[in-house]
Amino acid sequence: MNSRQSMDEIAIDLMQFRRALGNFATGVTIVTAQNDQGEKVGVTANSFNSVSLDPPLILWSIDKNSSSFSVFEQATHFAVNILSGSQIELSNKFSRRNIDKYEGTSYQTGAGKAPVLDHCSAVFECERHEIIEGGDHWIIIGKVVKFHDQGRSPLVYHQGAYSGVIPHPLLQLKDTVQAEPEDLGQLHQGHLYSNVCYLMSRAFKFYQTDYIPKQLVTGFRTSEARLLLVLGSGTASNKADLPRDIAMPMREVEQAATILKKDGLMVESDGFFKLTEKGKKTAHYLFDIADSHQNEVFEKYPEQEKEVFIKILKDIAGIA
Ligand SMILES: Cc1cc2nc3c(=O)[nH]c(=O)nc-3n(C[C@H](O)[C@H](O)[C@H](O)COP(=O)(O)O)c2cc1C
Repeated sequence: MNSRQSMDEIAIDLMQFRRALGNFATGVTIVTAQNDQGEKVGVTANSFNSVSLDPPLILWSIDKNSSSFSVFEQATHFAVNILSGSQIELSNKFSRRNIDKYEGTSYQTGAGKAPVLDHCSAVFECERHEIIEGGDHWIIIGKVVKFHDQGRSPLVYHQGAYSGVIPHPLLQLKDTVQAEPEDLGQLHQGHLYSNVCYLMSRAFKFYQTDYIPKQLVTGFRTSEARLLLVLGSGTASNKADLPRDIAMPMREVEQAATILKKDGLMVESDGFFKLTEKGKKTAHYLFDIADSHQNEVFEKYPEQEKEVFIKILKDIAGIA
């Protein structure tokens, strides 16, 4: 396949193009502004990026169809609120159209009256620097005039689903051992090997390394697999509740649903999603992959030890 052919394919299949872009993990922001008339806007955006340190410039892009754009164009300033892991509801709220996004939202007023949201990981208050046309989006560049760095664990977005950050356990060990003098390194290593947080994240990493490829081989992305598994377990089916129940924004629930419907795996009626027989079989298949991986990992432990392990994990996770 030459590059021209592949570009043509991208041009005709926007959904697949968006799906491929979803492999790039990002944080999640809410960009806010207020004009002279007191009109406040806020848009959930993952297109944020840093541009320059000196001068301090950042950018993000906004859909030309966004009803919020005119206020961003009028306002002298805007604020980029980097969401923390506990702000999924806020992210979903600010991605919706035609609602009062500020009702029940706590914020302070920042530079140029831009709302600075509470409980974020960081906030960059910016003066509008430049707006550039970028296809069906406007690229907005801002000059940072003030920032707040609370350092809370960030919300992550990957393959259409919200995730969290877990430090890479193998790197942690390598860095520590190499950075310290030998005796101190060994001392730290001893501490690490009895530190439950380190062990859980390292165990999780190893568990995932072998498991994820088995799930990906099915061709489903995280968002589609998550929707299938939740519908298959019968825990949720009301479309309106799904973003909360499965930690995915509505537009991704809709995109995953479109793909599953096209493949004859689910149907929608009166705002409820239902798996077809083929969908149920596929969900079973995904559950089987998860179960067989678990059985493989635990095969060398007696049943009793496995039960104690599950009991402790449930206890720490706050599951009754
Ligand atoms: C995780 C996530 C990331 C998003 N990123 C962007 C973005 O970078 N730019 C954009 O214009 N819209 C983005 N959206 C969609 C907007 O949030 C949404 O279209 C907007 O809030 C709709 O309201 P409005 O038209 O009143 O502005 C994103 C939505 C989600 C859930």
